[in-house]
Amino acid sequence: MQKLTIDPVTRIRGPLRIEADLQGGVVREARCTGGMFRGLEIMLRGREPLDAQRLTQRICGMCSTAHSLAAALALDQAFGLAASLPRNGRVMRNLIAGSHLLQSHLAHFYQLAVLDYVDFALVDGYRGRDARLRHLAELMSGGEVAHFTPRYEGDYRLPRPQSLEIASHHVEALGVRREAQEMLAIFGGPTPHDTSVFPGGALETVTPDKIAAFRGRLERVRRFIDESYLEDVWAIARAYPDYFTLGRGPESYLSFGMLDLDSEPNLTRRRRALLAGVLDGKVLTLGALDPSQIAEEVGRSWYRSGSKLHPSHGETVADPSRSDGYSFVKAPRYAGRACEVGPLARILIADAAGHDRVRRLVAGTLSTLRRDMSALRSVLGRHIARALESKLIADSMAEWALELRPGEPTRVRPRRQPRGASGMGITEAPQGALGHWLRIEDGLIASYQVVGPTAWNCSPRDDRGEPGACERALEGTKVRDPRNPFELVRIVRSFDPCLACAVH
Ligand code: FE2
Ligand code: NI
Repeated sequence: MQKLTIDPVTRIRGPLRIEADLQGGVVREARCTGGMFRGLEIMLRGREPLDAQRLTQRICGMCSTAHSLAAALALDQAFGLAASLPRNGRVMRNLIAGSHLLQSHLAHFYQLAVLDYVDFALVDGYRGRDARLRHLAELMSGGEVAHFTPRYEGDYRLPRPQSLEIASHHVEALGVRREAQEMLAIFGGPTPHDTSVFPGGALETVTPDKIAAFRGRLERVRRFIDESYLEDVWAIARAYPDYFTLGRGPESYLSFGMLDLDSEPNLTRRRRALLAGVLDGKVLTLGALDPSQIAEEVGRSWYRSGSKLHPSHGETVADPSRSDGYSFVKAPRYAGRACEVGPLARILIADAAGHDRVRRLVAGTLSTLRRDMSALRSVLGRHIARALESKLIADSMAEWALELRPGEPTRVRPRRQPRGASGMGITEAPQGALGHWLRIEDGLIASYQVVGPTAWNCSPRDDRGEPGACERALEGTKVRDPRNPFELVRIVRSFDPCLACAVH
């Protein structure tokens, strides 16, 4: 048995350590460790309920908008406002969430993941016409190669012209992401920590100018998705077909759903553009989401608080001295099972539920790439799902922006804040299912629990010793050279882990 450690895994969000036990070059067992502790849940106790919507955004510098929305949903419910959100408030929240998701997916693919498949060293010495590549080449010749090295040396397979084209898109994507961030700022205020999302709706005003500014930027983002992002993902999928079989995971998928289409107060019954659901079993059967089935286990985590607690009465008492623990990430489970969350879960669940547009996108992609449905449960499936979801949401936002009504109200105010109440805010961050659970006593926060997407995907083992989704996805992988385990980081990065959100 040989032990392999990757610490930290670079080009992800936040610090993650991976340990793998190899036997004959094959991963027998893998362990995901979140070694950072934050304590945001503890800081929130005893504070004003409205503080939660501001402070939980600080859990993460990249996923802040998702926390803003989850907290607002929990507070909507606690304040009794969930059923009366005005249309402008609901639509603005969707445009904010959608813009955030687009910039996040583009960042994941072009700034973080694509370097695993494209050899950027080919840009060194470039003297052609592409100004973006010349700029990159200049940085490299000046010794500024920190963006690209050190790296594990991958088995780069794309021919030079295609590699250069994607490298050029890597630079172009920065500008496209800026457009998406500006879209977010039009209705959300400054990013990363928005000031517009608020219990009862959103605070920005709606004007024809803002709608036009939003749609203009969106058109440019959509063009990039259609002409570059989708094509680049297909190119990588064609060159690396073995990654259709690698990184499979637990094959249980969970989505809380996001992008609200009505104001049904019960979030599990609210109509959403991306659907809630649970998909698992031998033939992947779709089930309705039942949030009472969620519990966080801490049998192998550095906590001495109770295990298997539902987040509505969860506890956070850290204990780094615990010798059987190996992570500050708890292990959320659904009906006792480890689940994968994220774009792949959302796309598979929407497809199983018969979502028209998703079915057409998935079927078109699979026929282009000559693959069947089961191939999506893989490293490449995650990248493909992220690209398809970007297209779906960007296209939908063009229609939603026209639903805004200038001059109409954007929020409803509570008559008075409750002395005692509770709320659940379940939605989806770009990386997957995100839930906030809050209890108010004597007018102040008595308990606040966050379960973030990477807690599901990069959880340690649970009380029964069952691995988390990423740990499972690494098992069985053949590593050609343990000193250069590029296969493993490709699998880990396909999940788009965010450890800041996992630990909070
Ligand atoms: Fe938590
Ligand atoms: Ni995050």
